[in-house]
Amino acid sequence: MRMLDLMRAIEQQPYAAAIAHSQWLFPMFEIAHVLALTLVVGSVAMIDLRLLGIGNRERSVTELMGSVLPWTWGAFAVAATFGLLLFSSKAATYYVNLPFRIKMICMGLAALNMLIFHGLLERDVATWDRGIPPLRVRIAGGISLALWIVIVAAGRWIGFTT
Ligand code: HEM
Repeated sequence: MRMLDLMRAIEQQPYAAAIAHSQWLFPMFEIAHVLALTLVVGSVAMIDLRLLGIGNRERSVTELMGSVLPWTWGAFAVAATFGLLLFSSKAATYYVNLPFRIKMICMGLAALNMLIFHGLLERDVATWDRGIPPLRVRIAGGISLALWIVIVAAGRWIGFTT
């Protein structure tokens, strides 16, 4: 089955068709998506700015991540759930949409950057937990912040191109 046929099959699912044909379901889900993503991006930005040595310097990196990341993951689960519901309503349209593809690619890159940070860079966190982190960590924070800004811009751009 071609991907586009699969996307059309998703659109024809009763719940997806209900979202597409309802006057208020799509806007309600988009509101929920936007509220959740603001918490995702806001909390990620707090950590990235700390990794860049900007703001929250009185708190250690691990202490800040410990109190912020549970909110990030919780909000991400909500944003992704409503994002998938929105996606299902016009799956074939979004699948070929350039801003949507840019957004998904950047989310993949942000995930890769996060894995490199937690898997490799965080190993010697005890040596830089307080104060300004070393260059490699600041680069990871900068890449993350830049990617999330592109994700938000691409997300907003979707609405102008569908
Ligand atoms: C947590 C990560 C995410 C962020 C930061 C994000 C960001 C955004 C932004 C800023 C918008 C524009 C909202 C508006 O102003 O109207 C948007 C819309 C949208 N997002 Fe996401 N998103 C995320 C996750 C997802 C996921 C996982 C999917 C599904 C695969 C998704 C699918 C959509 C769709 C379909 C729209 C609606 C576009 C339209 O208006 O037609 N998003 N997103």
